[in-house]
Amino acid sequence: MDARQLKIDAARVALGHVADGMRLGIGTGSTAEEFVRLLAEKVAGGLDVLGVPTSERTAALCRELGVPLSTLEETPELDLTIDGADEIDPALTLIKGGGGALLREKIVAAASKRMLVIADRSKLVDTLGRFPLPIEVNRFGLRATEIAVAEAAKRLGLSGPLTLRMTGDQPFVTDGGHFILDASFGLIPDTRALSDALHAIPGVVEHGLFIGLTSAAVIAGGDGVETILA
Ligand code: 5RP
Repeated sequence: MDARQLKIDAARVALGHVADGMRLGIGTGSTAEEFVRLLAEKVAGGLDVLGVPTSERTAALCRELGVPLSTLEETPELDLTIDGADEIDPALTLIKGGGGALLREKIVAAASKRMLVIADRSKLVDTLGRFPLPIEVNRFGLRATEIAVAEAAKRLGLSGPLTLRMTGDQPFVTDGGHFILDASFGLIPDTRALSDALHAIPGVVEHGLFIGLTSAAVIAGGDGVETILA
């Protein structure tokens, strides 16, 4: 089965959790975009929802397809967020931020009563870290922040390249105006310890470890879709 079809399958099952009147956090990435397309069809058929997008990219797609939007300022409490992930471990801790939207994604997920992650089975791992961990950093003091991140990781027995994410020959800039360091630390046995260590660094705006935010994961494979509860 092709990769896009798996994303559509997961998105379709997630859509079954959406009810009339819901305030929805809407994720970023190719899987979340399949969800937006299916959601737009339902909206065209009369479903009444209000979406809060997690990126300008998602906002643009929602506008194009006619999904009604709000902002987190206007709608600070959400019923459900549906988003993709780069890696998912058995406790439903995630690595996110492959699409560069991790800060808004985390703020929106934290403002939601429930978060559903949609993905194909390739995203399931025993231990997070094969996918480089995105770390959103302030532009000011980039080199100092990079050194602090490397030292914090070393204290936890982690090491590996920190790569400034680029778009062509320019640093990638997030919707919040920050840069992203992709940290190839390898497997991360203690995600909480790394999360706390990164949060203690002033230049770190946020990181892509999502701990305790996921209510359920909707996982599509060639043999069907399974829902894993946290
Ligand atoms: C964006 C994200 C995405 O949800 C994540 O990268 C997965 O994307 P895709 O569905 O395209 O594999 O975290 O910041």
